[in-house]
Amino acid sequence: MPPPPFPHHHLLGIESLTSEDIYRILDLAKSLGAPSEPKFSHVLKDRLIINLFLEGSTRTRTSFEIAERRLGAHIVNFDVESSSSKKGETLLDTALNLEATGADMMVIRHSAPGVPHFLSRHLGCHLINAGDGSHEHPTQALLDAYTLREHFGKIEGLRIAIVGDIRNSRVARSNAWLLTKLGAHVSLVAPPTLLPKELQTIWPEAQLTSDLDRILPHQDAFIMLRIQTERGTNTLIPTRKEYVEFYQMNSERFARALKTAVIMHPGPVNHGVELTSELFNDPRSLILKQVAFGVPIRMAVIQLLFASRTN
Ligand code: CP
Repeated sequence: MPPPPFPHHHLLGIESLTSEDIYRILDLAKSLGAPSEPKFSHVLKDRLIINLFLEGSTRTRTSFEIAERRLGAHIVNFDVESSSSKKGETLLDTALNLEATGADMMVIRHSAPGVPHFLSRHLGCHLINAGDGSHEHPTQALLDAYTLREHFGKIEGLRIAIVGDIRNSRVARSNAWLLTKLGAHVSLVAPPTLLPKELQTIWPEAQLTSDLDRILPHQDAFIMLRIQTERGTNTLIPTRKEYVEFYQMNSERFARALKTAVIMHPGPVNHGVELTSELFNDPRSLILKQVAFGVPIRMAVIQLLFASRTN
């Protein structure tokens, strides 16, 4: 019997997914082959996907493009610098005009929270949120879950600390949604100025703490976050030296963690701030595996959206 249609036309965030939806994405990604032995197909040979990245990206943009090519889609990478956005064309007009060229899907990254949700009220094509300000980054959380499941064989029951600039992190929000939905024990760890108390009402089951060293010995994984200077975080921490003293993951601190614990980071890394280069290169660092797993995860998301009941 063929699988039922995927129940979502867009992927705007993890918040609206069920645990069944999430496992369906993870399972399909797994069936698409190891990153070192990719499978190529032509399932999207008649589809046009436009990548609309209005904020910088290395990992997400590249792996979406690879995923789209492996599925045989036609792709266009929108170049904002040479576009009529520079003449003042609105984002909505830009998106409507791109859709009019025949786009079946747009992958959008924007610095403002809610932009993909706003566009979804005006466009008929599939939309994937590739990161909207400090709101959500759903494919990052999915590839993080994939990485955790590959390493530990499960997600339920794992103790995961998300450490750093929680206030500005879309990765923290998408991971908090995903990991709590799948039954992991989540700790959100940051200096008080980077840890909004209202997050506790969104995820009552999560632990909010500013004391990394207290919870350190009990965690299975640490997802380290970048200090987002471009979003003004520097003004919210006393000094870099003090941040490093209490929140940096380094060899001395990691020696007090479980021997089986792993380190993750969505990138880009501020070496010497939230993480040392030594630990970036440690065998217990899964950081480059996360990047590799981004490709099958994005292939799975794209394929499932095109197999949605609304398609
Ligand atoms: N993880 C991530 O979103 O990285 P990029 O900003 O390079 O895409």
